[in-house]
Amino acid sequence: MSNQENGSLPDFILPDSLYTETIREIHSKIEQNWDSLRQSARQTAAGRALWKQVINDPLAELLAGETYLKKLYEKIKKDILNSAREVSGVIIAVRTLWFDKRIEAALNSFDGGGAQVVILGAGMDTRAYRLSCLKDSNIFEVDFPEVLLMKTTILEAAAEATNKQNMMVKSLNRVAADLREKDWLEKLQQSGLKLNKNTVWVLEGILYYLSHSNAMEVLKIIANNCTFAHTVLLADFMNKQSTTMSSSNFHFYSDYPDQLLPSLGFADVKLSQIGDPDAHFGLLHDPLNLFNKLRNLPRSLQTHPDDGTPCCRLYLLQASGEPPNQTIL
Ligand SMILES: C[S@@+](CC[C@H](N)C(=O)[O-])C[C@H]1O[C@@H](n2cnc3c(N)ncnc32)[C@H](O)[C@@H]1O
Repeated sequence: MSNQENGSLPDFILPDSLYTETIREIHSKIEQNWDSLRQSARQTAAGRALWKQVINDPLAELLAGETYLKKLYEKIKKDILNSAREVSGVIIAVRTLWFDKRIEAALNSFDGGGAQVVILGAGMDTRAYRLSCLKDSNIFEVDFPEVLLMKTTILEAAAEATNKQNMMVKSLNRVAADLREKDWLEKLQQSGLKLNKNTVWVLEGILYYLSHSNAMEVLKIIANNCTFAHTVLLADFMNKQSTTMSSSNFHFYSDYPDQLLPSLGFADVKLSQIGDPDAHFGLLHDPLNLFNKLRNLPRSLQTHPDDGTPCCRLYLLQASGEPPNQTIL
């Protein structure tokens, strides 16, 4: 059981690496210049950093920065004091663990090594440094140029200060691209992506930041280009209620992503909800917590029958591309 789950929280000590002048300056520049869309990358890193009891992401603190770490720490503290059924950040913890596990399983399912993993909207993702299952894979991280630049700068500054930082992968390419534009696949190919190689596409915390048409286009591009090799798509989807809840940046939603993906050409679609047996990782014990309550309601319900609150769901989806060798001659 994690500290969050058993009601205690370790003292919040900012790592020494955050105190170097260079890193403080970078974070202060980010705070002045980035919009909330780009800042969301630091928010999820803070989630991984503060759920360190279950997520091994030593670089997350550094990449999240002090402001986001403090903000989330205070929320977690309040939740624990109030004996909340769901502690802040648990969604990020479960989501991260689900993607980690599915990436490893997908790579194991491919014949032979040498696969590619493409992370769209990679933000402060550090899987290239923390997942040993990626050791034979070529990794591609796609995000806005300024996000990737700052991430690289922070990681280089930290590596200099600490003299360590081991990448786990065969190669890592950071590809600056805007997923709303038509050229992101071309940019990936120019950076070495091969459409005829087995590939895992990781779309974690990205689709709902795009407009409906942009998100659909991204999914279609993946579906249309995955016919030459084995492809696994891993993605999370918000339902409609989740996107209308706050004054956030959320746009795209799907109440039935398990129907949407086959209509785009994906096969073997598996849907999980937070709290499902394959998506709780021992972090959601209280049967009355929000996620467990939602899982027991029909997915068509938009509001909770007990209290009229909106049914906000996060779906975790795995699918494959049309497998090769199925072309009818
Ligand atoms: C919530 S963060 C998720 C980051 C990472 N996948 C994770 O789970 O920690 C969303 C990321 O998507 C990126 N993003 C949003 N819209 C994008 C676009 N149109 N093109 C490229 N990246 C985008 C943001 O810059 C940010 O890094």
